[in-house]
Amino acid sequence: EQAEIGLIGLGVMGSNLALNIAEKGNRIAVFNRSPEATRKFFAEAGDLQGQIVPCETLEEFVAAIRPPRPIIIMIKAGEPVDQQMAALKPYLSAGDIMIDAGNANFRDTMRRFDSLKDSDLTFIGMGVSGGEEGARHGPSIMVGGTEESWKRVEKVLTSISAKFNNDPCVAWLGENGAGHFVKTIHNGIEYADMQMIAEIYGILRDGLGMSAQEIGEVFGRWNTGRLNSYLIEITEKVLKAADPVSGEAMVDMIVDRAGQKGTGKWSVIEAQNMGVAATAIEAAVAGRILSSQKSEREAAEKILGLPASADAPKDREVFLADLENALLAAKIGAYAQGFAVMSAASAEFNWNLPMPTIARIWRAGCIIRSQFLDEITSAFTKDPDVNLIVTPAFADMVKETDGALRRVVSYAVLSGLPVPALSSALAYFDAYRRGRGTANLIQAQRDFFGAHGFERVDGLDRPHGPWGSGLSQG
Ligand code: 6PG
Repeated sequence: EQAEIGLIGLGVMGSNLALNIAEKGNRIAVFNRSPEATRKFFAEAGDLQGQIVPCETLEEFVAAIRPPRPIIIMIKAGEPVDQQMAALKPYLSAGDIMIDAGNANFRDTMRRFDSLKDSDLTFIGMGVSGGEEGARHGPSIMVGGTEESWKRVEKVLTSISAKFNNDPCVAWLGENGAGHFVKTIHNGIEYADMQMIAEIYGILRDGLGMSAQEIGEVFGRWNTGRLNSYLIEITEKVLKAADPVSGEAMVDMIVDRAGQKGTGKWSVIEAQNMGVAATAIEAAVAGRILSSQKSEREAAEKILGLPASADAPKDREVFLADLENALLAAKIGAYAQGFAVMSAASAEFNWNLPMPTIARIWRAGCIIRSQFLDEITSAFTKDPDVNLIVTPAFADMVKETDGALRRVVSYAVLSGLPVPALSSALAYFDAYRRGRGTANLIQAQRDFFGAHGFERVDGLDRPHGPWGSGLSQG
């Protein structure tokens, strides 16, 4: 019996995905560049061995799969994917589908998709979220490619995806780069979520002087409320874990320098390309950059010192409630921005991205999974084409929580505690909701020095200013 699907790349993510596929009753052929990894994988597959066809040559691997063959490539993003595709191509036949399941830049995905246009092969760029656990037991899967190629893989992918109330967290989102673009923005939002949580942690640690254990308890409580989500859940666990070496809180033993592999940065670059303000995501990426400049920061602290703290909030419980609401408000801002980037990209690349579906498949399996995304699903099902913050449900939530965000940002700013993502989200609300802004002055300046022209509020045709003529006195 031929395999339903093939998978190349038995690293952590690839192995887990292959086991998930086999466990859900799909026969799968696997291949890894080094055959030892394939043998080891097969030897450890236990009960699932019957569903797995381990292959040591590409020829044997391709022959083991039922045509048209869907072949998942789960290897390091970038150049290796192009090399793997080139090595695979000679063995493939009409209708076969190469599926890149790594965190590819969607522009590479579009290029790869186009490079196969004149052949009878096709390509799917597939975003997979949920880390190792997700890959093994149910990830969220974002598919981009032709609708026909999606039909070929729909059944297998549906069987392995996470489920939210039985609803599978997988969907075909559009042609070519759509899946990888949506995964990129998922990660941009993930960066913002994580940065905002870290900023709140900073206020609790450095403003209120709470221990990791105490802060963990606060997050644990929040996880039972409106912030309920995977990231809040793991934050509690992380904060409560002890270091086996020192006995201290594990988190206190970790150097405050965050890594990044590119998806956050791409979200920001594409937001800028598309002319969308994604300031909370930008702040999160910048936050990681500054975090990595540890020795410079230490030197600057010696030179500049730290500002004095603001007075501690009078009632801690009241302030904790403010922090919870502030995090919710800021989160709304970040998600509104992420969805706005996707909406602009959808128009730019003719993807017709389905916003309610994107929110729907993020409700389980992925890193940003949450109750909140169920509310976004409902909001976009009613109004798919507007900014999230003006949908009725979220407008109410913003009105209810932005006061708390304002108080929290004020406290942090007065205490010299950095809250770049929280304050960006607040500034975004304040700029977005204000009908009359201050760009009239910028337009006047541009006209003054560059004769750029402007529009008049009364609609009169007077495209340039009389600069230097002066207002009449008295
Ligand atoms: C996921 C994660 C996963 C990974 C990213 C982000 O959705 O499962 O986003 O894909 O964590 O690579 O990683 P960096 O923080 O290293 O950029």
